[in-house]
Amino acid sequence: MKSKILIVDDDPLGIATLESMFHNQGFEISQAQNGMNALKLAEQIMPDLILLDVMMPGMDGFEVCRRLRTTPKLAEVPIIILTALDDRASRLQGIEAGADDFLTKPIDRQELRLRVKTILRLDRYRTLLTQRENLQKMAERVVSAQEEERKRLSRELHDDLGQALIAHILKLKNIQSQTNLHNEFDKLIEDANHIINRMRQIAQDMRPALLDTMGLVSALETHTKEFGSRSNLPVTFEADVDIPKLSDVHSITLYRTLQETLTNIIKHSNATQVWVELSVDEKNIILTVQDNGIGFVSTSQNGMGISNLRERLALVGGAFTITSALSKGTIVSASLPLEESTQTEFVK
Ligand SMILES: Nc1ncnc2c1ncn2[C@@H]1O[C@H](COP(=O)(O)OP(=O)(O)OP(=O)(O)O)[C@@H](O)[C@H]1O
Ligand SMILES: [Mg+2]
Repeated sequence: MKSKILIVDDDPLGIATLESMFHNQGFEISQAQNGMNALKLAEQIMPDLILLDVMMPGMDGFEVCRRLRTTPKLAEVPIIILTALDDRASRLQGIEAGADDFLTKPIDRQELRLRVKTILRLDRYRTLLTQRENLQKMAERVVSAQEEERKRLSRELHDDLGQALIAHILKLKNIQSQTNLHNEFDKLIEDANHIINRMRQIAQDMRPALLDTMGLVSALETHTKEFGSRSNLPVTFEADVDIPKLSDVHSITLYRTLQETLTNIIKHSNATQVWVELSVDEKNIILTVQDNGIGFVSTSQNGMGISNLRERLALVGGAFTITSALSKGTIVSASLPLEESTQTEFVK
């Protein structure tokens, strides 16, 4: 796509001279002969660069520049001010008004082309960076929204359906006491209790309530211990004392990492010992899950678990690594950069 340049000058000859300098350079040139028109046109065409003359009747170039900078859509557009005044005061005024660069009249063709090229290159780079930042923010918002929805479903499963089933059991017990079908009712009650437990487990996996009430360290520790008792595997959990409080998206990322890696250990590793550790260094917070199982060389094509974790970690600017060798066990490590993941307080 051609870069769009808007030339603003009250002097038609000035515009014609500049236009001729860009002739056949692959730019799309537009022009305005006063400040008001320049502002209107800029909003319409969204130029990649504005070349702005200072001395104009009515609104001068400095004022146009200031107004552009306070128009959200145009606040970032590169502006080069063209001035016959080669004095310090007017340059300072230009900087104050928000100009990116200056060119002194009469304009040197070579210099103009070079400056324009540099500014457009820098601007493309800046746009790319902003786009990347926006994408990352959007990805975080998607993860947050997904977690919010899980939180809601988890609460509904636990509170709503859970209460309904408990009421159901009470009714069954009531009828049981009035009939002689004692064993049949016992079976129905046992089934209902089973459903409640299963549902609570689903609610818990969907959104660990502990993460909201007790924070990350307790949630990780509780999950590790429950995993140990469910799987009959000896598991140790260690956490540094000075783990900072992480944002929700970062906490849930580490929690999901623990869930998936422990599930993988049960499913694939044949391990007899598992170690979970949460630590901080100057720059990162790191979750490490190690087992002494059979290890593996490369991941199978079918599984989603590890690739999902890689994506989750990348989304929040973190890193995910696996160190594994056949018969030597597996170490999985997820690391998040501290300054992006932390909130201000510290958890004890
Ligand atoms: N701790 C481990 N010990 C041994 N092998 C492992 C371990 N963790 C992962 N693997 C190997 O890596 C593969 C990929 O794991 P991944 O979690 O991506 O998929 P999965 O567990 O097979 O399926 P999914 O997670 O989608 O239910 C596993 O199939 C297994 O072969
Ligand atoms: Mg898996």
